[in-house]
Order: sequence, then C-alpha cells, then structure tokens
Amino acid sequence: MTEPDERLSRTARGWDEAADGYQAYFVPRFAPWVKAAVEAVAEVPDGPILVPCCGTFPELDLLAPRFPGRAIVGIDLSAEMVRLARERASRLPDVDVFQGDAAALDPRWSGTCAAVLSVFGLQQLPAPAAAISSWFGALRPGGRMCVVYWPEVAEETGPFALLDEVLEDHADRSWEDGLVDALADAVVERDELVAYPMTHPSAAAYFDAADRAGPLRALALARGDTFIAELRQQYVDQAPAGEWIHHPHARLLAVRKLTRAD
Ligand SMILES: C[S@@+](CC[C@H](N)C(=O)[O-])C[C@H]1O[C@@H](n2cnc3c(N)ncnc32)[C@H](O)[C@@H]1O
Repeated sequence: MTEPDERLSRTARGWDEAADGYQAYFVPRFAPWVKAAVEAVAEVPDGPILVPCCGTFPELDLLAPRFPGRAIVGIDLSAEMVRLARERASRLPDVDVFQGDAAALDPRWSGTCAAVLSVFGLQQLPAPAAAISSWFGALRPGGRMCVVYWPEVAEETGPFALLDEVLEDHADRSWEDGLVDALADAVVERDELVAYPMTHPSAAAYFDAADRAGPLRALALARGDTFIAELRQQYVDQAPAGEWIHHPHARLLAVRKLTRAD
C-alpha cells in the first residue's frame, strides 16, 4: 500500500471506530455550526444537493425540510459513518449515501449540483484547496456552496487549544489562505469566523471523546495506546478542573457560482 493509501485507510478505520461515539458526543455539540451552514444555502437552482464528509449526516435533518423533494446525497469515507448516515436517511425519500473519498469527486457530479455543503470535513483532507475546488466544480451556475471547517486557531485558550498544544501540532495550514483563490467564478457571499458555546463535563471527558469518538482515533491507531495515555496525562495535568465551557470559532465560507447573467 502506498503512503497516501495507508493514511486514507487509517483515517477510515479511525472514523469507523469513532462513529457511534461521535454521534453521541460531538453531533449535538456541533449542531449550531451545522445549522449555520444549512442556513447559508438558500435559493438554489434545480439539481441535487451534495454533502461531502457527511459523517452520520446531521446536515440531512435540516436540509430535507428546507429543500423538500430534492435529491440529497452524502459521501463519507468511513463505512460505519455511512451505516449511521443511511439509518438516518431511511426515514427520508430521495436520499443516497455513498462510501468513498470525497477529496476528489467523481466527474459525473461536475456542473450538476444545486448546492454543496460540508461541515468539519475539509481540514482533515490532505489537499483541502484541491478538494474545495472539486466540490465547487460540482455546482451548476447559480449553485451555492457552504463549507465550514476548523481553522488552525479555533480558540486562543480552551480544550481545543490545549489539545493542539500537547500534540505540538505544526501541520502546514497555509492552504487556508488559498481557499478562495481555488474557486474561479465564485462570488463570496460570506467568509467569517462563527463561534458558539460548547460544554464538556471535564477535560478528561473531552480528551476521551476526541480519542475514542473523534479526530484523535486515527492518530491513536498510528501511534498506539502508550502515546495516547501519555498525551492524556499531560492534557489533564494542564487543564482546569470541572466542567469546561468554551467558544471555539469555525470558518464559514459561503459562495455562489456565477451565471452567464452575472
Ligand atoms: C468531524 S466528522 C464531520 C461529519 C459531519 N459533517 C458532521 O458535521 O457531523 C468528519 C467526517 O469526514 C469524513 N472524512 C474524512 N476524510 C474523508 C475523505 N477523504 N472522504 C470522505 N470523507 C472523509 C470522516 O469519515 C468523518 O465522518
């Protein structure tokens, strides 16, 4: 297996193991950002709505009543996420969920979609600018896209900031500056940081959720239990005691694809 394939398969396995816990712990906490993303998409042309990195597909509960009768399509890498998304979708007609890599969409979507919506997937992809450009390419003229992702700095202090600190995460995030430039023919309707309050029962509860039910799972698979146990100890030692409330901000980018009439 090549290195990128190995990374992709570890990401998929990580989210497979995390899926049930993610649904229980993170989906309710991330709900305000999902709502903001859905509300940023209005007045779209005919065509399906595509949701890359849909996870358990919380977007669907808001998209379906907002766009009755539309085909809504979720794509996610993780088989377990797809299973949970299909469970959610089983209550609704006109919904499909596909398992696959959403980093580069199947060319069959090119120029066909009314809207693309993606929440908290982009920052996990190896080449986010290329991915968002491929998502934008799926839009018809006049179509709208809203992407919400966690930026390099989601907060100055708090549970997310402390996790970055103990992880000593120095990943190159220069791609964030190039996202808008990656979208030719886009009218930027909103590009802002959107913050909501989030509560964790304790620092340990948040760390364990990130480890067992969130983005740390793939790292745990790569680095092993001893590494995670040491990281947890450092995290808890540096964190405040008791319930932890913070106000992290995500970047919300909403664009419309130009039409000939524009
Ligand atoms: C943080 S979850 C967000 C899920 C959902 N959008 C939400 O807001 O709850 C990120 C999702 O991205 C998916 N993902 C990560 N890399 C992916 C890829 N290359 N292609 C498709 N999905 C991917 C994961 O499997 C996971 O379900």
